[in-house]
Amino acid sequence: MQQTSATKLQDEESGVRKRIRIFDTTLRDGEQTPGVSLTVESKVEIAKALDRLGVDVIEAGFPIVSDGEFEAVKRINKLRLSAQVAALSRVDKKDIDKLIDCDISYGHLFIATSDLHLEHKLKITREKALESAIQGIEYARAHGIKVEFSAEDATRTAEDFLVNVFREAERAGAERINVPDTVGTMTPEKFADLIAYLKTQIGIPISVHCHDDYGLAVANSLAGVKAGADQAHLTINGLGERAGNASLEEFVMAASRLYNIEFGINTKLLYETSRIVSRLTRVLLPPNKAIVGENAFGHESGIHTHGVLNMPATYEPMAPELVGARRRIQAGKHAGTHGIYSQLKALGIEVSPENLKKIIQKVKEIGDQGKTVTDTDLDRLAREISGVATRNSSFRITDLAIVTGINTVPTASVRLSYGNNESASVAQTGVGPVDAVLKAIQQVTDRFARVSLREYRIEAVSGGTDAEAEVLIKIEDDRGNVCSASATGQDIVMASVSAMVSGINEILLRRSRGESDKVESLSQAPKIAAVTSQEAQRFKA
Ligand code: KIV
Ligand code: ZN
Repeated sequence: MQQTSATKLQDEESGVRKRIRIFDTTLRDGEQTPGVSLTVESKVEIAKALDRLGVDVIEAGFPIVSDGEFEAVKRINKLRLSAQVAALSRVDKKDIDKLIDCDISYGHLFIATSDLHLEHKLKITREKALESAIQGIEYARAHGIKVEFSAEDATRTAEDFLVNVFREAERAGAERINVPDTVGTMTPEKFADLIAYLKTQIGIPISVHCHDDYGLAVANSLAGVKAGADQAHLTINGLGERAGNASLEEFVMAASRLYNIEFGINTKLLYETSRIVSRLTRVLLPPNKAIVGENAFGHESGIHTHGVLNMPATYEPMAPELVGARRRIQAGKHAGTHGIYSQLKALGIEVSPENLKKIIQKVKEIGDQGKTVTDTDLDRLAREISGVATRNSSFRITDLAIVTGINTVPTASVRLSYGNNESASVAQTGVGPVDAVLKAIQQVTDRFARVSLREYRIEAVSGGTDAEAEVLIKIEDDRGNVCSASATGQDIVMASVSAMVSGINEILLRRSRGESDKVESLSQAPKIAAVTSQEAQRFKA
């Protein structure tokens, strides 16, 4: 393979920042995540969020796959978004006709080109694949569709054949080619060489489309754009087939901050967009997910919280506000004085240096038992130790009845009291009793704070059918307040109810203190309470 000067970063050569186009495929490859299926409404909601985020292209779907998919592509195409709307199609006439029926002007056409796919999947020769590609592109062009042509499994395709297919695609009228690393087998070095070489052979712009089977999708995409590609195919939260695609949020932040590449993305909407996609696809994020994971700006250990409270840059490579996220301090066995003090201050609890020591000691003991110290645990502990009165809860469950069984839809009826002797009763069904009762609670509390369940865990504390179980939940409201709460009991439904109600009460308390603003304006509203130097002196003494 030929090595060229194009492998150098454009900005290294010219000092000019490079502008890369973002082709978002959350609604197509992302929706191909096993188990994910979106309704037309959900796809429209995500498309609007992607448009607000500022992506250049939204691949809205693959119209041939179902009537709903066809409808979604059509609806998104009519939204008059700022982003271009593309849709996927094989090079077959019947697929392209669907693009025409959706009035799509940006077609993403593909056919596999590796011998592996030709022999074992399509069962056609290279010549036939080439002919089909040319015919498909010409047919789409003749109907006024601009074509981005993908050679599926490009990175495992014989190089001379790949170049030939791309050249013919260009000749047939494709406006752009895409190089998919379909099963993620590239390394950044090999991918950079391939893209640089293709740049010398093809006259039209190049996209890269990387999968994450070896965890290299973002690194490979970065290598691809460094080598000359000017568009990257990405998905929110790295959704996609198998291990997923290159994650948009990781690529954008790494490319802009570490490679000096420019985008039209409003990075402050990354966290919010990630949450919208997670909620609608029901794919929860691992807490340690870069940029948008719950721990991406979370700190527990004493050394880290101390550093971050004094100067965030000590343990944060970027400010959370830059991606619309919040800094979070977690109590646990690694906790230190600064972190716990700051958390208590945020809870509005004043403690003496002696009580602070006792609280930290207790937190560490709980941590040593392998348990999570939730926000509501810390609040309770601090009030018990320092004798601060327990605050009046906003919500209390006063009645609860649950029906479940065979041939019975699990149904929960609850009565919640709040405020000045006000109360409300609702009934909800669910997939199980816990689902039903949590939905019922949320139906009442929604008008005060819309929360969604981010995490739900049950841990058995003892054995037997009368075992004690601990329910841990994490909820987040529509302003980005995250709160963890737990409750223990022999009845897991009741423990779930207690945890949920205390979590919601905690969120309401935070909101009433005005600690939080809308996610977009987080830069003015740091969530964690700073520790002043006088305070630090007081508990050091
Ligand atoms: O990964 C892939 O090869 C694809 C093609 C349809 C472009 O998603
Ligand atoms: Zn793909």
